[in-house]
Amino acid sequence: MVDNIYHEDCLKFMRRACRQKFFVDVIVTSPPYNIDKGYSMYNDKISRRQYLKWMNKVANLSMPILRDNGSFFLNIGGTLLDPLIPFQVLQEFLKAGYKLQNTIHWIKSISFDKVDVGKNSQVRDNFSVGHFKPIISNRFLTDLHEFIFHFSKTLKTPLDKLSIGVPYQDKTNIGRWKSTKQDKRDRGNVWFIPYATIQKGRPHPAVFPEKLPKFCLMLHGIRPDLVVYDPFIGAGTTASACINLDVKYVGTEIDEQYVRIARDNVIASRQSAKEM
Ligand SMILES: C[S@@+](CC[C@H](N)C(=O)[O-])C[C@H]1O[C@@H](n2cnc3c(N)ncnc32)[C@H](O)[C@@H]1O
Repeated sequence: MVDNIYHEDCLKFMRRACRQKFFVDVIVTSPPYNIDKGYSMYNDKISRRQYLKWMNKVANLSMPILRDNGSFFLNIGGTLLDPLIPFQVLQEFLKAGYKLQNTIHWIKSISFDKVDVGKNSQVRDNFSVGHFKPIISNRFLTDLHEFIFHFSKTLKTPLDKLSIGVPYQDKTNIGRWKSTKQDKRDRGNVWFIPYATIQKGRPHPAVFPEKLPKFCLMLHGIRPDLVVYDPFIGAGTTASACINLDVKYVGTEIDEQYVRIARDNVIASRQSAKEM
């Protein structure tokens, strides 16, 4: 089954995988948010009841195919007028038996005041980084954030935190703690991952940056036999991350047009991985 992108409903795939005793170590995905996104085929505006029931099925059917020490990373956001979507979907996953091991905040843009950056930095002015699309409103702040819920079956999935670690700001920490042997600390649960600047038109309306699944997979821990599943693989970003990390992937997508794009992206990723 591995290293394939199936043109198939993810629920149907997961039932089949369960019957065939096919197991995965990590699931990383971003489902439709039910916010009327302009997908070419999928209708992203169904009743809230129907949507949550569907998310509950996704959670329930994924349980038996995910290994006991596996990780399910669910990227989800809401809208300014409907900010509760992520929390309601979270509830459905908890109802299905998942435990919320970590809540990661995916930050798309952020601003710093020079005074807060630290006296040793080279920074001369206040500055902002990342993609920013202002909204016209005197009530709401621009939303620069989405969630990545990290679920496990028992809260006991071990993580390779330093694989995505960052240097200490205060280097005296290196000698201070017995466990600290190098200038690297846990990145924490706030991840700044900007979108790449897109020159051509967008072939899929809701892709995440490749760094997002890459960080999730590295955090779970890379092993040569690792198998990753993305039930809603869209343009194949998770598969590209897997190819670049040299791990096995499988994906499902109901829209034939996106399946074609994903398969083309897989070929391109394999080619550039070979050239490196
Ligand atoms: C948010 S997008 C995922 C984008 C992906 N993370 C990427 O970077 O390209 C959600 C995708 O789920 C697909 N989808 C909707 N219902 C599905 C189903 N039942 N089974 C599989 N895919 C489905 C949609 O066509 C859409 O491409």
